[in-house]
Amino acid sequence: MSRLQAEHLYKVFGRRPEDAVRTLEAGADRDELRADGTTAAVIDASIEVDEGQIFVVMGLSGSGKSTLLRMLNGLLEPTAGTVRFDGQDLTSLSDKELRKVRSEKISMVFQHFALFPHRSVLENAGYGLEVQGVPRAERERRAAEALALTGLEGWEKSWPDELSGGMQQRVGLARALATDADLLLMDESFSALDPLIRRDMQDQLLELQKTLKKTIVFITHDLNEAMRLGDRIAVMRDGRIVQIGSAEDILVRPANDYVASFIQDVDRSRVLTAGAVMSEVGTVLGSTTPDGKTLGTAAEFRAAAPATVGQDTPLAELFTPCSASTVPVAVTDDNGALVGAVPAERLLAVLGESAEPHRAPAPGVPAQPAVKTSPKAPADEASGDDEPADEPGKNEPEDKVIAGA
Ligand SMILES: Nc1ncnc2c1ncn2[C@@H]1O[C@H](COP(=O)(O)OP(=O)(O)O)[C@@H](O)[C@H]1O
Ligand SMILES: [Mg+2]
Repeated sequence: MSRLQAEHLYKVFGRRPEDAVRTLEAGADRDELRADGTTAAVIDASIEVDEGQIFVVMGLSGSGKSTLLRMLNGLLEPTAGTVRFDGQDLTSLSDKELRKVRSEKISMVFQHFALFPHRSVLENAGYGLEVQGVPRAERERRAAEALALTGLEGWEKSWPDELSGGMQQRVGLARALATDADLLLMDESFSALDPLIRRDMQDQLLELQKTLKKTIVFITHDLNEAMRLGDRIAVMRDGRIVQIGSAEDILVRPANDYVASFIQDVDRSRVLTAGAVMSEVGTVLGSTTPDGKTLGTAAEFRAAAPATVGQDTPLAELFTPCSASTVPVAVTDDNGALVGAVPAERLLAVLGESAEPHRAPAPGVPAQPAVKTSPKAPADEASGDDEPADEPGKNEPEDKVIAGA
């Protein structure tokens, strides 16, 4: 069920923003407005995020990601459009009501998570609860639980400056988790971390998400990170969302030349999974192997298959078994039930497809199921394209904003 919906959101900075929205609605782009000193940060963005989903917003620096995110929790008022969370229109709430929703239901984790230097790790993790007025004993218990979830057990009494950057970022995550907010908004939360630590945090988030099932909007300028984390991914360019889909949709069916050029260097064999490309078991049944065995039943197919893999297995791991046999690789679900087959031809065909944009999607073609990409996909290759320093105020703990708003 969709918990968060944004419809036709616009944010224009500068003079006469409403006029600018009308110009944009008529098809103007950012550059045309920039001439008179107006910035269209977000243009006609609509998204829907389901419960338990990681929705990634990806785009280059300046594409409007942070502005979009800040409208989702009401920190910025949209110039036009609506945001609904659990059916409640945030744009219609009073400041007081909005602060309540923000402190109880929504948590934010920023890129540079500013911890309070003179508070212990435990106090930092419990800060969101303090803002809510939760009594000390309960606050400390919940903060300690959240620290344990993020792998910081034993560090409760430490000071922030005793922690590495990666650990400080974990405290930020713990603070967000401690409040029990259902909606987590993460703005480049891992972007400042070294590649290996970053990958670790991505793993941890995926792991936590399996049990916590939060609704997460995760912002990144890194394609690999987007592919790794996102159940659905929105690609932004110059303020507009140019495509929304699963990692597979974006890789296999890029909406335009821009997306196609963006994804051209992605290692498809590590992002696409067996579950994403498999054929139905029925397509295998009834065939005969070169050595004369009939694959009449699912059991016979499983017995003859060169390997049995889970749906999340990246295609890269199917090369060896596929080269060893003419029988397709068997694919099973989490319960071990047979759900599909990957024949060698299919594997080669998928990897050989070029990333040409799909200009005219055939009507009536069923949408592909959203596919979780492999947790083993490579993490960011040392992204050297870190954003310029955030604007002032952005580096402050969100609590300051909440508390002082
Ligand atoms: N408060 C502001 N005033 C004026 N322009 C802004 C403001 N915040 C963001 N912008 C502009 O809006 C555009 C999108 O910014 P932002 O949402 O921060 O992008 P991203 O997070 O994708 O890097 C940029 O051109 C940025 O300079
Ligand atoms: Mg940003």
